[in-house]
Amino acid sequence: MRDKVLQLAKEKNAVILAHYYQTPDIQEIADFKGDSLALAQKATEIDADIILFAGVHFMAETAKILNPTRKVLLPDLAAGCSLAESCPADDFAKFKEMHPDHIVISYINCTAEIKTLSDVICTSGNAVQIVESFPREQKIIFAPDKNLGRYINEVTGRNMVLWDGTCEVHDILSAEKIIQMKIDNPDATLIAHPECPKPVLILADFIGSTTAMLNYTKNNASHKFIVATETGILHQMKKDSPNKEFLIVPADETCACNDCAYMKLNTMEKLYLALKNEQPEIILQEHIMINAKAPIIRMLELSK
Ligand code: 13P
Ligand code: SF4
Repeated sequence: MRDKVLQLAKEKNAVILAHYYQTPDIQEIADFKGDSLALAQKATEIDADIILFAGVHFMAETAKILNPTRKVLLPDLAAGCSLAESCPADDFAKFKEMHPDHIVISYINCTAEIKTLSDVICTSGNAVQIVESFPREQKIIFAPDKNLGRYINEVTGRNMVLWDGTCEVHDILSAEKIIQMKIDNPDATLIAHPECPKPVLILADFIGSTTAMLNYTKNNASHKFIVATETGILHQMKKDSPNKEFLIVPADETCACNDCAYMKLNTMEKLYLALKNEQPEIILQEHIMINAKAPIIRMLELSK
């Protein structure tokens, strides 16, 4: 199946982009893998006929908005995101009306409709930088992740108004289990994604985006890491640092695992079928594409 996907990608002049949360087999066949920011940046440069996006819906949508003349395929249209779903456009428009003197900074994990209601987009990799690009007196709504928003408020000393959304994977990582892991592994360094809740972040030695965590584990002298994020990242961490040990933080009792169920909907078989049938394709209305593009471009300009 792997060889068939690669052969078909070649025949159809397709580029495969993959997020680090994909399964190792998919990460290994990707032409480019990255976190949300790197994938958005890459999407602007692609001149192949097809972009096969191994990630979730908002990521493929962003690629389409940034490179609208390419055919963008998502292997499974059900690959959504709990954060994006937590912020319906109608409700958010009303929320925005309640704060008329505020600008909107939205985390890229949101729908294209929410992007059209935003002044600028950010990812976990550049969120602090984007927020700090505005004067301190600027009033800001931050959506949809309240954990990331609260973390940025603390780091920057701001008081952004937060939308009440969470990532269903990071929000249930267990602080109690981390404390036990730290007791059992006193030599380990705890790293965490800023989508984690405050009790987890308080315990962390380092907080950063997917790429920031990867770089940290490569460059830090520690030989053992407790990793508070989605499990897919371990593949690249182990590749980059084969002699280091990585322990994943389990979810609390409400959930059996801490894989992102949306990310893991993509399989090699679905990648093959998507390329073969050239669908499911990401199709967006013209006015949504135009209005969602401006805040994403603003983010890319600010991230240079
Ligand atoms: P990154 O911005 O670190 O890639 O995070 C994406 C994501 O979905 C985190 O849950
Ligand atoms: Fe969305 Fe969380 Fe999955 Fe990332 S890990 S895609 S934020 S549900």
